[in-house]
Amino acid sequence: MTPPPIGIHRLSFHTPSYYIDLDTLAQVRGAEPDKFHIGLGQDRMALPPPDQDIVTLAANAALPILDELGTDHITWCLFATESGVDQSKAAALFCHGLLGLPAACRCAEVKEACYGGTAALRLAQAIVAASPEDRVLVLASDIARYDLASPGEPTQGAGAVAMLVAANPDLLVLDPVPGVHAEDIMDFWRPNYRTEALAEGHYSTRMYLTTLVAAYERHKAATGDTLSSFAHFAFHMPFTRIAWKGLSRIARADHVPEPAEADAERLLAPATLYNRQTGNTYAACIYEGLASLLDNAPAPLDGQRIGCFSYGSGCMAEFYSLTVVPGYAQHLFTGLHRRLLADRVPLTYRQYEDIFQYGIPTDGADHIFAPYRGGPFRLASLSAHKRRYERRPP
Ligand code: HMG
Repeated sequence: MTPPPIGIHRLSFHTPSYYIDLDTLAQVRGAEPDKFHIGLGQDRMALPPPDQDIVTLAANAALPILDELGTDHITWCLFATESGVDQSKAAALFCHGLLGLPAACRCAEVKEACYGGTAALRLAQAIVAASPEDRVLVLASDIARYDLASPGEPTQGAGAVAMLVAANPDLLVLDPVPGVHAEDIMDFWRPNYRTEALAEGHYSTRMYLTTLVAAYERHKAATGDTLSSFAHFAFHMPFTRIAWKGLSRIARADHVPEPAEADAERLLAPATLYNRQTGNTYAACIYEGLASLLDNAPAPLDGQRIGCFSYGSGCMAEFYSLTVVPGYAQHLFTGLHRRLLADRVPLTYRQYEDIFQYGIPTDGADHIFAPYRGGPFRLASLSAHKRRYERRPP
């Protein structure tokens, strides 16, 4: 019997209710606003208030999916992050409690920088391939932090995606034969004793583009795909401008002229809309891009193929493709995503820095978190080094 197609059955995105406009940041840093808006392709950075963390962002992303479909057949919850809240306990277990996942559901955390979401997706695919009745809840959630006034600062962001991975999915089928490239490098990293990442920024950008070509060449050799095989692209986007650089590398690898400006815009722009508003969401980033594409494509995507590039510093690169399932548009959370982005509160620079510097006790003292705006789940308190989460009353 032919095995069923496997892929993303539901895809939901969540981001904090606060942001700083990059015009505000440019003014304080004495930078040209166009460097951020045009050079990097970013407009706003999402910032989580003290009572939101990767756990609440992910649980808030997953809730619409579970409200719609329930938890039946979810046998795994995989949580991808590089902003973990505990060195031992998986963030997936906090979500297991908040979301009421079944007791017979395995929970684990997955890490490889921004590639973590794709690593979790591949594990989920293998689990479903072995047992097609099973469904896997993949959560990818991150808070991108660099030192204040560092080159990475305008690329910070925060957000989460939840993906239900299943056989015969309603949204996106994972096509066979991805192209993979792994290499041990130090382009971006965060030692355990730091809360902000370190980056060799220009080197990391070069490695992103070099490994894109290596992964794409492998995918192409195995499948015969070329640039023209894809209706759209979703790239990992530390900043959205990199997608345009990536597309021109793919054209060069195919020995074809770079797509004209309007064609590049058509291929790339729909997947970049949310990221421009949130900043880098690390492990969630490429899947936030997919949500943006499915929600905002100018024409129906039924049956079309999407070229995807996932990059995690350190580094892991994967070029792969997805095919959009006919009828997908009935299964999106477009209205929710758009409202979430439209209803956010802008911060002044002073408020941004206060939230950025907000320190939580590290000595086990009790701490109550004031309620800020946000999704249904929030971090309520810390006591004896334990986090206590709660669901707001409706
Ligand atoms: P920088 O050095 O301050 O910026 O930081 P720049 O001088 O390179 O300028 C950026 C672009 O703006 C340039 O465009 C300028 O020309 C342009 P390019 O030449 O590259 O095409 N520009 C202007 N454009 C219009 N009007 C102006 C103007 N001025 C300048 N007035 C850098 C840039 C990316 C290095 C920095 O933000 C950084 O260190 N970011 C963090 C690291 C990063 O994002 N790396 C990307 C690849 S690694 C990755 O994707 C993995 C990651 O997501 C982590 C993970 O895996 O977990 C980061």
